[in-house]
Amino acid sequence: MTTHPLEELDQARLRDHLAAELQRGRERSRRLTDAVDDDDLVRQHSRLMSPLVWDLAHVGNQEELWLVRDVGGMRPLREDIDQLYDAFQHPRADRPQLPLLGPAEARGYVGEVRDKVLHVLESAPLEGRRLLDQGFAFGMIVQHEQQHDETMLATHQLRAGSPVLHADPPPAPTVRLQRPEVLVPGGRFTMGTSTEPWALDNERPAHEVDVAAFWLDTAPVTNGEYARFVDEGGYSQPQWWSSTGWAYRQEASLEAPLFWRRDGDRWMRRRFGVLEPVPADQPVVHVSFHEAQAYAAWAGKRLPTEAEWEKGARFDPDTGRSRRFPWGDADPTAEHANLGQRHLSPAPVGAYPLGASPLGVHQLMGDVWEWTSSGFSGYPGFTAFPYDEYSLVFFGGDYRVLRGGSFGTDAAACRGTFRNWDHPVRRQIFTGFRCARDAGPTDLG
Ligand SMILES: [Fe+2]
Repeated sequence: MTTHPLEELDQARLRDHLAAELQRGRERSRRLTDAVDDDDLVRQHSRLMSPLVWDLAHVGNQEELWLVRDVGGMRPLREDIDQLYDAFQHPRADRPQLPLLGPAEARGYVGEVRDKVLHVLESAPLEGRRLLDQGFAFGMIVQHEQQHDETMLATHQLRAGSPVLHADPPPAPTVRLQRPEVLVPGGRFTMGTSTEPWALDNERPAHEVDVAAFWLDTAPVTNGEYARFVDEGGYSQPQWWSSTGWAYRQEASLEAPLFWRRDGDRWMRRRFGVLEPVPADQPVVHVSFHEAQAYAAWAGKRLPTEAEWEKGARFDPDTGRSRRFPWGDADPTAEHANLGQRHLSPAPVGAYPLGASPLGVHQLMGDVWEWTSSGFSGYPGFTAFPYDEYSLVFFGGDYRVLRGGSFGTDAAACRGTFRNWDHPVRRQIFTGFRCARDAGPTDLG
């Protein structure tokens, strides 16, 4: 059986854990919003993103809706602003025009909500109702804030001007990967989860999936590898692109990953305000699904399906069981994966040998979100919980599923089963990929 750290906590310790997780997310939100002045907080840095001050108050508003009003049964603090911070009522591009709370007001509001929530947490039952079991509602809000912290980090990356965020560089590689690809054996494996306490509705339920044997890249595609595709004319050769991808490449005049620019015979990139040579050994980041797909075709490969990705990440051939994470069931630490904005870039390939899966696949969690070839839909037996707008309304759109989290994703919002999704043209998020290919009869012995 899979063991979950939360299951071992008694109610008092679970409350302490929830309070600490809420606090950790808030410190990050504060760092991301205190790093810039009020002008930068209210400005829209890209039409793809909200002003940072919207994200901040939206985090507080969701927390108020779920934890103060629903779980706590308390009176609303600011019912009047609910519609301003409802993501479904206002597309991101329109948000700067709304009568939003200003920076000081937004900070005051989220602080007031949090005080009430900590009070609710002292006495709320953490069982007896699905929303409360093992602190799910609190866990959902922790994840929500952390997800917006990643969104805010992406806004920072789009912001012009000098650097305001600082972090240690990622660790150097400690191993040289012996093989470029790993053979993932064919057969059934358990995908998704029915037991992970904070798993969201789209990760549920656990179900068996039959996956044919295939080869999966040992590591994400690096900048050095991707630069070869660019330099050998990949962006001017329609044969590698899908017809939709090629039309997008033409229309958006794509020539390289977002934030790359040519400088003589080398590539430079702008990263959180710093202009630097593109590091060859780090996973490529800021590529759309279409670019990932074109690269894979050029390399004679393809993108993995979502089920293939998860099998490569979680399946343990010795036990036949699916692990919570590639390395096992323990929560991520700094030795396992580049998560949690500890570093402000992906880490070089070979930097996280302790995070490898039983099959020997590296850096599945953290570094870069990985595009898969799969659309976003519900697993067999899916039920929307706690609301349709979390996942259900996105099923069947033109989205592609992304897996594994990035350097900007917190461990609380990332699991072996965690599913992210976005439009195939998006590249302002921290996205990369790895390739796969079918196994031939000779591979199978
Ligand atoms: Fe949100």
